[in-house]
Amino acid sequence: MTYFVTRTVNRLAWLLIGMFVVSGVHAEDTANKPATKKPSTAKTEEEDKTSGGRYSFNRIHDPNGIGKFYMGREIAHVMGWQGAGWLERSTREEEERLTLLVKSLRLKPGMTIADIGAGSGVISILMAEQIGNEGKVIAVDVQDEMLKLLRTKLEKRGVRNVVPHKGKAKTPQLKPNSVDLALMVDVYHEFEYPYEMLLEISRSLKPGGRVVFVEYRKEDPTVPIKLVHKMTEKQVKKEAGLPELNLKWKETIGVLPRQHIVVFEKQKSKSE
Ligand SMILES: C[S@@+](CC[C@H](N)C(=O)[O-])C[C@H]1O[C@@H](n2cnc3c(N)ncnc32)[C@H](O)[C@@H]1O
Repeated sequence: MTYFVTRTVNRLAWLLIGMFVVSGVHAEDTANKPATKKPSTAKTEEEDKTSGGRYSFNRIHDPNGIGKFYMGREIAHVMGWQGAGWLERSTREEEERLTLLVKSLRLKPGMTIADIGAGSGVISILMAEQIGNEGKVIAVDVQDEMLKLLRTKLEKRGVRNVVPHKGKAKTPQLKPNSVDLALMVDVYHEFEYPYEMLLEISRSLKPGGRVVFVEYRKEDPTVPIKLVHKMTEKQVKKEAGLPELNLKWKETIGVLPRQHIVVFEKQKSKSE
Protein backbone atom coordinates (compact mmCIF):
# COMPACT_ATOMS: atom_id res chain seq x y z
CA MET A 1 0.00 0.00 0.00
CA THR A 2 2.74 2.42 1.10
CA TYR A 3 4.64 1.43 -2.05
CA PHE A 4 1.69 2.34 -4.33
CA VAL A 5 1.07 5.64 -2.51
CA THR A 6 4.76 6.59 -2.77
CA ARG A 7 4.85 5.61 -6.44
CA THR A 8 1.69 7.61 -7.23
CA VAL A 9 3.00 10.64 -5.33
CA ASN A 10 6.33 10.35 -7.20
CA ARG A 11 4.59 10.10 -10.56
CA LEU A 12 2.39 13.09 -9.74
CA ALA A 13 5.43 15.10 -8.69
CA TRP A 14 7.22 14.29 -11.97
CA LEU A 15 4.07 15.08 -13.93
CA LEU A 16 3.83 18.49 -12.23
CA ILE A 17 7.54 19.21 -12.82
CA GLY A 18 7.10 18.18 -16.47
CA MET A 19 4.04 20.41 -16.88
CA PHE A 20 5.91 23.34 -15.35
CA VAL A 21 8.91 22.90 -17.63
CA VAL A 22 6.81 22.39 -20.76
CA SER A 23 4.52 25.32 -20.01
CA GLY A 24 7.56 27.54 -19.35
CA VAL A 25 9.15 26.58 -22.63
CA HIS A 26 5.83 26.85 -24.43
CA ALA A 27 5.04 30.24 -23.01
CA GLU A 28 8.30 31.44 -24.44
CA ASP A 29 7.80 29.50 -27.67
CA THR A 30 4.46 31.12 -28.40
CA ALA A 31 5.64 34.55 -27.32
CA ASN A 32 8.85 34.15 -29.20
CA LYS A 33 9.87 34.81 -32.72
CA PRO A 34 8.88 32.41 -35.47
CA ALA A 35 11.79 31.35 -37.64
CA THR A 36 11.14 31.11 -41.33
CA LYS A 37 14.45 31.82 -42.98
CA LYS A 38 16.88 28.97 -42.85
CA PRO A 39 20.01 29.62 -44.85
CA SER A 40 21.37 26.72 -46.84
CA THR A 41 24.10 25.22 -44.69
CA ALA A 42 25.89 23.84 -47.77
CA LYS A 43 26.13 27.29 -49.33
CA THR A 44 27.20 28.82 -46.05
CA GLU A 45 29.93 26.23 -45.50
CA GLU A 46 31.15 26.83 -49.04
CA GLU A 47 31.22 30.58 -48.47
CA ASP A 48 32.92 30.15 -45.15
CA LYS A 49 36.03 28.86 -46.89
CA THR A 50 36.63 32.48 -47.84
CA SER A 51 35.89 33.88 -44.39
CA GLY A 52 39.05 32.66 -42.72
CA GLY A 53 37.43 29.75 -40.86
CA ARG A 54 35.71 32.20 -38.55
CA TYR A 55 32.58 30.10 -38.42
CA SER A 56 32.09 26.45 -37.58
CA PHE A 57 29.16 24.17 -38.28
CA ASN A 58 27.54 21.34 -36.40
CA ARG A 59 24.66 19.15 -37.44
CA ILE A 60 23.75 18.63 -33.80
CA HIS A 61 22.48 21.94 -32.57
CA ASP A 62 19.70 23.90 -30.90
CA PRO A 63 16.53 23.69 -33.05
CA ASN A 64 16.19 27.47 -32.82
CA GLY A 65 19.69 27.99 -34.18
CA ILE A 66 21.06 27.55 -37.70
CA GLY A 67 23.86 25.13 -36.81
CA LYS A 68 26.48 27.79 -37.47
CA PHE A 69 28.71 28.92 -34.62
CA TYR A 70 30.73 32.07 -33.99
CA MET A 71 33.08 32.69 -31.08
CA GLY A 72 31.46 29.98 -28.98
CA ARG A 73 27.78 30.69 -29.58
CA GLU A 74 25.22 29.42 -32.04
CA ILE A 75 23.63 31.91 -34.44
CA ALA A 76 19.82 32.04 -34.21
CA HIS A 77 17.27 31.81 -36.99
CA VAL A 78 16.21 35.13 -38.50
CA MET A 79 12.75 36.13 -37.38
CA GLY A 80 10.49 36.00 -40.44
CA TRP A 81 8.37 38.98 -41.45
CA GLN A 82 5.32 36.93 -40.46
CA GLY A 83 6.38 37.62 -36.88
CA ALA A 84 5.89 41.38 -37.24
CA GLY A 85 2.75 41.15 -35.09
CA TRP A 86 4.95 39.98 -32.21
CA LEU A 87 7.09 43.10 -32.54
CA GLU A 88 3.93 45.23 -32.46
CA ARG A 89 2.29 43.42 -29.53
CA SER A 90 0.46 45.58 -27.01
CA THR A 91 2.36 44.07 -24.05
CA ARG A 92 5.76 45.04 -25.48
CA GLU A 93 6.07 48.37 -23.71
CA GLU A 94 5.44 46.70 -20.37
CA GLU A 95 7.80 43.79 -21.13
CA GLU A 96 10.63 45.74 -22.75
CA ARG A 97 10.07 49.37 -21.70
CA LEU A 98 10.90 50.69 -25.18
CA THR A 99 10.36 54.30 -24.17
CA LEU A 100 12.92 53.88 -21.39
CA LEU A 101 15.30 52.24 -23.85
CA VAL A 102 15.04 55.22 -26.22
CA LYS A 103 15.48 57.64 -23.31
CA SER A 104 18.65 55.79 -22.25
CA LEU A 105 20.18 56.41 -25.68
CA ARG A 106 20.37 60.17 -25.00
CA LEU A 107 19.40 61.13 -28.55
CA LYS A 108 19.88 64.66 -29.82
CA PRO A 109 18.09 66.60 -32.57
CA GLY A 110 19.84 66.30 -35.93
CA MET A 111 21.41 62.90 -35.28
CA THR A 112 21.77 60.24 -37.98
CA ILE A 113 20.79 56.89 -36.55
CA ALA A 114 20.96 53.47 -38.19
CA ASP A 115 18.35 51.11 -36.76
CA ILE A 116 19.86 47.87 -38.00
CA GLY A 117 17.36 45.03 -38.24
CA ALA A 118 14.57 47.56 -37.81
CA GLY A 119 11.80 45.06 -38.55
CA SER A 120 8.45 46.85 -38.72
CA GLY A 121 10.08 49.98 -37.33
CA VAL A 122 8.57 50.19 -33.84
CA ILE A 123 11.80 51.58 -32.38
CA SER A 124 12.76 53.59 -35.49
CA ILE A 125 9.56 55.61 -35.10
CA LEU A 126 10.07 56.14 -31.37
CA MET A 127 13.60 57.44 -32.05
CA ALA A 128 12.45 59.60 -34.96
CA GLU A 129 10.24 61.54 -32.54
CA GLN A 130 13.34 62.55 -30.56
CA ILE A 131 15.66 63.75 -33.32
CA GLY A 132 13.52 66.31 -35.13
CA ASN A 133 13.17 66.97 -38.84
CA GLU A 134 16.91 67.59 -39.31
CA GLY A 135 17.63 64.15 -37.89
CA LYS A 136 17.22 60.86 -39.72
CA VAL A 137 16.67 57.22 -38.82
CA ILE A 138 17.91 54.82 -41.48
CA ALA A 139 15.80 51.72 -40.89
CA VAL A 140 17.85 48.82 -42.27
CA ASP A 141 16.45 45.37 -42.85
CA VAL A 142 17.23 42.37 -45.05
CA GLN A 143 13.60 41.39 -45.61
CA ASP A 144 11.67 43.25 -48.33
CA GLU A 145 8.39 42.35 -46.63
CA MET A 146 9.47 44.06 -43.39
CA LEU A 147 10.49 47.17 -45.33
CA LYS A 148 7.13 47.13 -47.10
CA LEU A 149 5.27 46.94 -43.77
CA LEU A 150 7.40 49.81 -42.51
CA ARG A 151 6.75 52.00 -45.59
CA THR A 152 2.99 51.53 -45.23
CA LYS A 153 3.19 52.49 -41.56
CA LEU A 154 5.31 55.58 -42.24
CA GLU A 155 2.91 56.79 -44.94
CA LYS A 156 -0.11 56.22 -42.72
CA ARG A 157 1.45 58.16 -39.85
CA GLY A 158 3.08 60.84 -41.98
CA VAL A 159 6.56 60.13 -40.56
CA ARG A 160 9.19 61.73 -42.80
CA ASN A 161 12.46 61.27 -40.94
CA VAL A 162 12.62 57.47 -41.13
CA VAL A 163 14.18 56.09 -44.32
CA PRO A 164 13.63 52.37 -45.08
CA HIS A 165 16.88 50.90 -46.35
CA LYS A 166 17.70 47.45 -47.74
CA GLY A 167 20.66 45.71 -46.14
CA LYS A 168 22.40 42.48 -47.06
CA ALA A 169 23.44 39.55 -44.89
CA LYS A 170 27.05 40.77 -44.73
CA THR A 171 26.56 44.54 -44.87
CA PRO A 172 23.97 47.18 -43.94
CA GLN A 173 25.09 49.10 -47.06
CA LEU A 174 25.70 52.37 -45.23
CA LYS A 175 28.13 55.11 -46.20
CA PRO A 176 31.42 55.19 -44.27
CA ASN A 177 31.65 57.76 -41.43
CA SER A 178 28.02 58.78 -41.80
CA VAL A 179 26.23 57.50 -38.68
CA ASP A 180 26.15 58.88 -35.11
CA LEU A 181 24.45 55.88 -33.56
CA ALA A 182 23.91 52.31 -34.79
CA LEU A 183 21.27 50.48 -32.79
CA MET A 184 20.50 46.75 -32.85
CA VAL A 185 17.53 45.70 -30.78
CA ASP A 186 17.12 41.93 -30.54
CA VAL A 187 18.96 41.51 -33.83
CA TYR A 188 22.68 40.91 -33.53
CA HIS A 189 22.36 37.28 -32.35
CA GLU A 190 20.60 36.41 -35.62
CA PHE A 191 23.11 37.93 -38.03
CA GLU A 192 24.28 35.18 -40.33
CA TYR A 193 27.63 36.98 -40.66
CA PRO A 194 28.16 38.83 -37.37
CA TYR A 195 31.86 39.52 -37.98
CA GLU A 196 31.35 41.07 -41.41
CA MET A 197 28.31 43.03 -40.22
CA LEU A 198 30.16 44.53 -37.24
CA LEU A 199 33.11 45.48 -39.41
CA GLU A 200 30.77 47.32 -41.79
CA ILE A 201 28.80 48.91 -38.97
CA SER A 202 32.00 50.20 -37.43
CA ARG A 203 33.03 51.66 -40.81
CA SER A 204 29.68 53.42 -41.11
CA LEU A 205 30.11 55.17 -37.74
CA LYS A 206 31.60 58.61 -37.39
CA PRO A 207 34.58 58.68 -34.97
CA GLY A 208 33.05 58.90 -31.51
CA GLY A 209 29.81 57.37 -32.86
CA ARG A 210 28.15 54.66 -30.82
CA VAL A 211 27.02 51.13 -31.55
CA VAL A 212 24.42 49.78 -29.16
CA PHE A 213 23.47 46.14 -28.62
CA VAL A 214 20.14 45.44 -26.95
CA GLU A 215 19.97 41.73 -26.23
CA TYR A 216 17.87 39.57 -23.91
CA ARG A 217 19.96 38.73 -20.85
CA LYS A 218 21.23 35.15 -21.12
CA GLU A 219 22.57 35.45 -17.58
CA ASP A 220 18.97 35.49 -16.35
CA PRO A 221 17.11 32.18 -16.71
CA THR A 222 13.81 33.87 -15.84
CA VAL A 223 13.84 35.92 -19.07
CA PRO A 224 11.30 33.94 -21.13
CA ILE A 225 13.12 33.81 -24.45
CA LYS A 226 14.71 30.89 -26.29
CA LEU A 227 18.38 30.42 -25.42
CA VAL A 228 19.93 31.18 -28.82
CA HIS A 229 17.95 34.42 -28.94
CA LYS A 230 19.67 35.61 -25.74
CA MET A 231 23.24 36.86 -25.22
CA THR A 232 25.39 37.43 -22.17
CA GLU A 233 27.07 40.80 -21.74
CA LYS A 234 30.40 38.95 -21.69
CA GLN A 235 29.75 37.43 -25.11
CA VAL A 236 28.71 40.77 -26.62
CA LYS A 237 31.91 42.33 -25.27
CA LYS A 238 33.99 39.46 -26.62
CA GLU A 239 32.58 39.79 -30.15
CA ALA A 240 32.56 43.59 -30.33
CA GLY A 241 35.97 43.82 -28.67
CA LEU A 242 37.99 42.45 -31.60
CA PRO A 243 40.71 45.04 -32.24
CA GLU A 244 40.01 45.42 -35.98
CA LEU A 245 36.50 46.66 -35.17
CA ASN A 246 37.97 49.72 -33.49
CA LEU A 247 35.21 49.81 -30.88
CA LYS A 248 35.62 50.52 -27.18
CA TRP A 249 33.11 49.45 -24.56
CA LYS A 250 31.65 52.53 -22.82
CA GLU A 251 28.84 51.32 -20.59
CA THR A 252 26.21 48.69 -19.97
CA ILE A 253 22.87 50.14 -19.02
CA GLY A 254 20.78 47.86 -16.84
CA VAL A 255 17.46 49.67 -16.64
CA LEU A 256 15.35 47.32 -18.76
CA PRO A 257 13.44 44.38 -17.29
CA ARG A 258 14.68 41.76 -19.77
CA GLN A 259 17.50 43.15 -21.90
CA HIS A 260 20.85 44.74 -21.38
CA ILE A 261 21.92 47.78 -23.36
CA VAL A 262 25.61 47.40 -24.19
CA VAL A 263 27.22 50.53 -25.61
CA PHE A 264 30.50 50.83 -27.57
CA GLU A 265 32.14 53.87 -29.05
CA LYS A 266 34.11 54.02 -32.29
CA GLN A 267 37.68 55.07 -31.68
CA LYS A 268 39.47 57.63 -33.80
CA SER A 269 41.76 55.78 -36.20
CA LYS A 270 45.50 56.55 -35.84
CA SER A 271 45.53 58.59 -39.07
CA GLU A 272 42.79 60.93 -37.75
C1 LIG B 1 13.57 40.23 -34.03
S1 LIG B 1 13.47 41.39 -35.32
C2 LIG B 1 13.72 42.88 -34.40
C3 LIG B 1 13.13 44.10 -35.07
C4 LIG B 1 13.31 45.42 -34.35
N1 LIG B 1 14.70 45.68 -34.02
C5 LIG B 1 12.47 45.49 -33.11
O1 LIG B 1 13.01 45.20 -32.02
O2 LIG B 1 11.28 45.81 -33.21
C6 LIG B 1 15.01 41.15 -36.18
C7 LIG B 1 15.06 41.81 -37.54
O3 LIG B 1 16.42 41.81 -37.97
C8 LIG B 1 16.44 41.60 -39.36
N2 LIG B 1 17.78 41.12 -39.76
C9 LIG B 1 18.36 39.92 -39.58
N3 LIG B 1 19.61 39.90 -40.09
C10 LIG B 1 19.84 41.13 -40.60
C11 LIG B 1 20.96 41.74 -41.24
N4 LIG B 1 22.09 41.09 -41.50
N5 LIG B 1 20.84 43.05 -41.60
C12 LIG B 1 19.71 43.74 -41.37
N6 LIG B 1 18.61 43.21 -40.76
C13 LIG B 1 18.68 41.92 -40.37
C14 LIG B 1 15.32 40.62 -39.61
O4 LIG B 1 14.91 40.64 -40.95
C15 LIG B 1 14.25 41.11 -38.62
O5 LIG B 1 13.38 42.02 -39.23
